[in-house]
Amino acid sequence: MNIKVMYHSSTGNTEKLAKAIADTVNAKAEPIGSSAATISKPIDLLFIGDGTYFGKMHKKTVAYLSQLSPATVKNVAVFSTYGGQDKVGADISNLLQKRGLTVVGKPFTCKGKAWGLINRKHPSKLDLENARAYAKDVAAALGQ
Ligand SMILES: Cc1cc2nc3c(=O)[nH]c(=O)nc-3n(C[C@H](O)[C@H](O)[C@H](O)COP(=O)(O)O)c2cc1C
Repeated sequence: MNIKVMYHSSTGNTEKLAKAIADTVNAKAEPIGSSAATISKPIDLLFIGDGTYFGKMHKKTVAYLSQLSPATVKNVAVFSTYGGQDKVGADISNLLQKRGLTVVGKPFTCKGKAWGLINRKHPSKLDLENARAYAKDVAAALGQ
């Protein structure tokens, strides 16, 4: 199974989830905007993640999602971090579904360190363990 892990992360929290997920499914975590983001062969499972910025996903993520097609990406699994508003995971899933892509299960989301002391311990060790378990479950659901 061809698995890809893509993410945007302005301050490093979502990157931690991306790396834990990638490590679990033997893939590489690649930031959106890198040349590796180009889809050169069909993907069986794409994990895509982002943080939450002023209530929204990052514009780089919007641009990346807009070029995904069900013809080249068979399944997508979504992950996200947030300061207090847990909605970007659902936003990404909804956008992908509107574009005709198959989203597997519910998004995995957890808190991420934000300003000052807000969520200062997140993603925590447990958050990362949960992200790993999520990645394993998604891959297993697709027969991997
Ligand atoms: C510029 C900026 C704007 C943010 N706006 C929100 C917001 O509107 N709602 C929220 O829940 N968290 C907000 N946060 C907190 C981030 O979503 C949280 O820290 C997240 O883990 C960041 O992910 P990243 O480290 O991968 O960039 C904001 C953070 C930054 C840096």
